[in-house]
Amino acid sequence: MDESLVNSILNLYKHKNWRAIVSRYHDHPDRSKLLWVFPTEENFAFLRDSVVELGCNGILSIGCGSGLLEWMITEATGLPVSGIEIDGAWWHCKYAPPTFIPLIITTPTLNSSTISLLRDAKSVALLFCYFNNGPAFAQYIKHYSGPVIVIIGPGYGKGVHTNPTPFEDLGEEWKMYRSQEIRDSQDYIAIYQRNHNKETKIV
Ligand SMILES: C[S@@+](CC[C@H](N)C(=O)[O-])C[C@H]1O[C@@H](n2cnc3c(N)ncnc32)[C@H](O)[C@@H]1O
Repeated sequence: MDESLVNSILNLYKHKNWRAIVSRYHDHPDRSKLLWVFPTEENFAFLRDSVVELGCNGILSIGCGSGLLEWMITEATGLPVSGIEIDGAWWHCKYAPPTFIPLIITTPTLNSSTISLLRDAKSVALLFCYFNNGPAFAQYIKHYSGPVIVIIGPGYGKGVHTNPTPFEDLGEEWKMYRSQEIRDSQDYIAIYQRNHNKETKIV
């Protein structure tokens, strides 16, 4: 781990200076050790406006890693963001990156408390940033009761693999609301809304 990068970001975090974090480190070669994407102010506003327009007042981030993105979203938008991770031992070991929000630790097969969290998330958007576990994604979506899924990740041609990708066919229950590129990084924020017409479709 690049200690100077981590220490610089921690120092800015202590001063709540998320603007300097994104402007100074968005293209740092080791940035992915703490976070894969560093959105602009415009990107944060896009995220906030989209989830609020669709009836959400908070975000639950799955596979939040260090939680740096989640902390910056709260600072930039005022929306509360909580984060779920697996492997509690890793996050508490001395080689692990620092964490910027308290992590909710879950199990690889969803446990009952995580399922309750998803079922109760009626006005909370579900966020996946650079998530890389398709079968787990399907499980989270299955139990989620709210109206918005946000997927952040690489577009086609970036040469990085995630599962899900931002432009995914999520089935007939979800439709794309809008999307925006993060700077000119070929990473995208994609907003999906629950398709309420699904039940009324005449077949
Ligand atoms: C590539 S990292 C992305 C981390 C962070 N969101 C980011 O953008 O920097 C994917 C994360 O998903 C987590 N993950 C994988 N399977 C998971 C699951 N079933 N539930 C929660 N988190 C999971 C991994 O531990 C890892 O931290």
